[in-house]
Amino acid sequence: MADALRIGIAGLGTVGAALVRILQQRSNELAVSCGRPLVVTAVSARDRTRDRGADLSGITWYDDPLELAASADIDVFVELVGGANGAAHDSVRAALARGVHVVTANKALLAYHGVDLARIAEANSVILNYEAAVAGGIPVIKAMRESLTGNSFSRIYGIMNGTCNYILTRMEKEGLSFADCLAEAQRLGYAEADPAFDIDGNDTAHKLAILTTLAFGSEIAADEIYLEGISNISIDDIHAAADLGYRIKLLGVAQRTETGIEQRVHPTMVPLDSVIAQVDGVTNAVALESDILGELLMVGPGAGGNATASAVLGDITDIAKSRPGAQQVPVLGRPAHLLEPYRQAAMRSHEGGYFIRLRVADRIGVFASIAGRMAENGISLESIVQHAKRQPEAGAPQTIILVTHATMEGAVRQAVSAIREEGYLVGEPQVIRIERPKNG
Ligand SMILES: NC(=O)c1ccc[n+]([C@@H]2O[C@H](COP(=O)([O-])OP(=O)(O)OC[C@H]3O[C@@H](n4cnc5c(N)ncnc54)[C@H](OP(=O)(O)O)[C@@H]3O)[C@@H](O)[C@H]2O)c1
Repeated sequence: MADALRIGIAGLGTVGAALVRILQQRSNELAVSCGRPLVVTAVSARDRTRDRGADLSGITWYDDPLELAASADIDVFVELVGGANGAAHDSVRAALARGVHVVTANKALLAYHGVDLARIAEANSVILNYEAAVAGGIPVIKAMRESLTGNSFSRIYGIMNGTCNYILTRMEKEGLSFADCLAEAQRLGYAEADPAFDIDGNDTAHKLAILTTLAFGSEIAADEIYLEGISNISIDDIHAAADLGYRIKLLGVAQRTETGIEQRVHPTMVPLDSVIAQVDGVTNAVALESDILGELLMVGPGAGGNATASAVLGDITDIAKSRPGAQQVPVLGRPAHLLEPYRQAAMRSHEGGYFIRLRVADRIGVFASIAGRMAENGISLESIVQHAKRQPEAGAPQTIILVTHATMEGAVRQAVSAIREEGYLVGEPQVIRIERPKNG
């Protein structure tokens, strides 16, 4: 049997501790399948006294991940600390620069420093693997980087944040408000104490930015993503969507268009009978549309210690099986120096269907005025209905719901602003984009 692969793990939290346990429990099976033992030789975390649920005797402890990255006793540096900058970034950079393979689950790190880190890895002929950074246990990075080589992608989209999907699912199934569902997600440990990062769409955006690069061969552009979170979604929107045959999901979507690449994260109406509409709770899903394969939808656990550690483990075993000096899979799907500059498509030129919910004063002529503003902006309507579970009292504001045929975002914005100027709107209009899967 070949020499052991010596693994240094920085971060012994949810994912890191699960990884150490699995490596220890499965050591025999892993040695057989990799042709060499996988041994954790060193770890790093902040608190030496905390019980990690794993046997750390005989393993060198470093307080500083940077010292672990510099250790001569490791062949692979596994970064499970988190954060785009600071200890995670410094230690990953240092490990790659001295020719040590790296595995990370850190989407923020990849989203902001991925191209730079890929350049360093490729210059030093070492592997940088990051399967767990997108959709946890779903092997989407390997699928895009390796299995689907040669495919030309047209669109990728997915449910990549379990917290948001859990909240939207609960709102629909239990008829609860956004605030109630968020509080429950926090109580169950699905949402952080500060949930803004998840519900504002930033977490999804980081993952989307990585997939966009793999799909379209452009540099990572995490700051050029159109972002709308879910805190604005009301139970009325969810009911209205269901009545029209849709379900609301927070999707990350990247699409190649004639004017550039669209990257957007926003609440989206998907047809009720589509497969992605059935993805409930904390589960994640990623759909890839490409010319040779058609559509591939992968569904699975997007987070959790074991599911994430499973993806990290897969990355480690790939390194264990790699041959020294052999050609490596390019970190971002193509060599970093061949990535193209990112060309952003303007959000105003996004084309798709729209759901528009308006609360209006009960006045004669409002319906005709709304239809008129739509027509003036060249928007063709699939439906326009007065919507109410119960007949509203005479004189009370009415709800009007419009669904458009495929139209330009710019036209919708212009029509809504013209409607605003008419003076009969009550409260803010709600606009939700509609996304149709290729094959239902
Ligand atoms: N949790 C998931 O389900 C999941 C899913 C996909 C991807 N990820 C990614 O996986 C990574 C780890 O996530 P996690 O949930 O395992 O995080 P976590 O539970 O917060 O664990 C972080 C670990 O890093 C250690 N740490 C933090 N700052 C440090 C520093 N300056 N020096 C040394 N150690 C430090 C902590 O030490 P102490 O324990 O001593 O405080 C802790 O062990 C993140 O990038 C995350 O985005 C997580």
